[in-house]
Amino acid sequence: MTVLDSALDTAGPEYRAAREAMLAKLADLDAEHAKALAGGGEKYVERHRGRGKLLARERVELLLDPDTPFLELSPLAAWGSEYTVGASLVTGIGVVEGVECLITANDPTVRGGASNPWSLRKALRANDIALANRLPVISLVESGGADLPSQKEIFIPGGAVFRDLTRLSAAGIPTVAVVFGNSTAGGAYVPGMSDHVIMVKERAKVFLGGPPLVKMATGEESDDESLGGAGMHARVSGLADHFAVDEPDALRQARRIVARLNHRKAYPDPGPAAPPEYDEDELLGVVPGDLKIPFDPREVIARIVDASDFDEFKPLYGTSLTTGWATLHGYPVGILANARGVLFSEESQKAAQFIQLANQRDIPLLFLHNTTGYMVGREYEQGGIVKHGAMMINAVSNSRVPHLSVLMGASYGAGHYGMCGRAYDPRFLFAWPSAKSAVMGPQQLAGVLSIVARQSAAAKGRPYDDEADAALRAMVEQQIESESLPMFLSGRLYDDGVIDPRDTRTVLGLCLSAIHTAPYEGVRGGFGVFRM
Ligand code: COA
Repeated sequence: MTVLDSALDTAGPEYRAAREAMLAKLADLDAEHAKALAGGGEKYVERHRGRGKLLARERVELLLDPDTPFLELSPLAAWGSEYTVGASLVTGIGVVEGVECLITANDPTVRGGASNPWSLRKALRANDIALANRLPVISLVESGGADLPSQKEIFIPGGAVFRDLTRLSAAGIPTVAVVFGNSTAGGAYVPGMSDHVIMVKERAKVFLGGPPLVKMATGEESDDESLGGAGMHARVSGLADHFAVDEPDALRQARRIVARLNHRKAYPDPGPAAPPEYDEDELLGVVPGDLKIPFDPREVIARIVDASDFDEFKPLYGTSLTTGWATLHGYPVGILANARGVLFSEESQKAAQFIQLANQRDIPLLFLHNTTGYMVGREYEQGGIVKHGAMMINAVSNSRVPHLSVLMGASYGAGHYGMCGRAYDPRFLFAWPSAKSAVMGPQQLAGVLSIVARQSAAAKGRPYDDEADAALRAMVEQQIESESLPMFLSGRLYDDGVIDPRDTRTVLGLCLSAIHTAPYEGVRGGFGVFRM
C-alpha cells in the first residue's frame, strides 16, 4: 500500500478560511436546491395533495428500495432562467428491486408538469446516461406536455425524447412508464414507446387529443375516460399492461416489473472497500476561496480513494498534473488531477501516455479539474504547446474507458477540454461550489477585450476613451464572473449537478457502480494521429 501523506493543517488559518468560504457557498447552494424541492410552491403543492396525489419526489421515494440512495441529477436545471429551478422534472439514479435504474418524474406542481426548454435538455441528458450505462428507465408521468409559450424551442428537438425511448428498447434496455395523470398529445408517446406501461385508475389520461380537440376536429362528443382512461387502456386499447387502483399500487407494480426484468450488471459488485484514511469532512478546507492560490490535489485524492492508497505515475515529470492509480469503492480508477493550474507540454504528454495506459488496461479515468489552461508565451509555443495539448485532447477524445469529471476549482480554456469537459462526454460531470469555468478568467478576458479595442482605435487613428474602458472592463469582468459560476453552468446543464465536496466519494461510487452495469473496453491503438 502507498498511503498518501497529508500536509493539510486543519488548525491553520488558511484551512479555516477556505472552509468558511466553502460553507458559505454551500449555504447558497442549499437555498437553490430548496427551490427545486419546493416545485411550484405552496399553493400548487397543496392543490396537488388535495387531489389525493403524491408529489414527484414522494413517488420516487416509494419506488426505490427502502434506505437506498437516490443520486439526483441536474437539480439546478433552469437556474438563472425564467423557469422554475429544477425545470419541472426530477431525474436521477436509484435502486429498484436491487436494480440500478434511471428514474424521471414530472413535477405536476410546476406549470402542470409541462416541459420547457430546460426540462427537455434535462430529459435528454437522463436518456444519454441510461443509454451509456445500460440503466433501465422508469418514467413517472404526469405532464401538461410542451410548455406552450416556449413551443418553438421544444417542439422540433423534443421528438428526441420518444426516439430515445424506443432506441433504448432496441438496445435491450428496459423502459417502464407509470402514468399518474395527464399524458396527452406528444406525451402519449411516453407510454406509447415504453416496454411496460402502468396506468392509475381514474387518473391517467393518455390520448392524442382531449375532448375539446376531438370536438373541434370531428364534432364527436367524448370524455376523458373513454378517450384515455386507465380502465379503457387496460381493457380496450391494450396500451396499458397494468391497471393500478391508486398511486402506491402503481409504484408497487412498477417494482414488480423491475424485479422480473432479468436485467443483469456487466460486472460483479466489488464488495466493501476500505474508507480513506483521512476525514472526508476536511475536503471543505482544501480549496482556497481565491482560486489563484494553488492547492495540492493529493489532499483531495487522499480523502476520496479507498484507504487513501494512491500509486503515482511519473511523479517527478510534468509535476503540475498528478496522475496515478487507485480504487474508489472497490472500482479501479486512473486519476488525472491538476496540481498548479497551468498545463505545460510535459503535463500534456504525461496525460496522453496515462490515458493510453488506462485504455490498455480497461481502467476508468477520473479527472479532477483545477486548471487555468495550457501555457502561453514564446518559449512554450516554440516548445510545441499546441501539438502537445492537442495530443492530450486527442487521447481524451478517443479514449473509450468511462470518464468521470469533477470541477474542484478553475476549469478554463482548452484545459477544460483536455481534462474531459462536458463536450468530451464524460459519463458524469459534477462541480464543487468552488468551481469556475469559462474560456478564461474574467480579469484576463476583460483585459484582452480592452487591448483589442485599444488596438482597433489606434488602427483607425481614433483617440481611446480610458474612462469608458475602465467601466467596460469592470462590467465585462462582472458578467464573465457570474457566467463562470457553478450554479449558472449547472442551470444550463453543463454538469450533472453541483455537489458538496464531502459527498464526492459517495457520488463517484454511485456513478462507478452505475457505469459497471454496461460492459466497456478501452481503445487499443485507435487514437487519431498523435503529433509528436
Ligand atoms: N404550457 C404552459 N403552461 C401550462 C401548460 C402548458 N402545456 N399546462 C399547464 N400550464 C399552466 C397553466 O396555465 C396553469 O398556470 P397558472 O396557474 O399560472 O394559471 C398551471 O400550469 C397549472 O395548470 P392547471 O390547468 O391549473 O393545472 P391542472 O393540474 O388542473 O391541470 C393539465 C394540468 C396539464 C391537465 C392542464 O393544465 C392542461 O390540460 N394543460 C394543457 C395540456 C396540453 O394540451 N398540452 C399540450 C400538449 S403538446
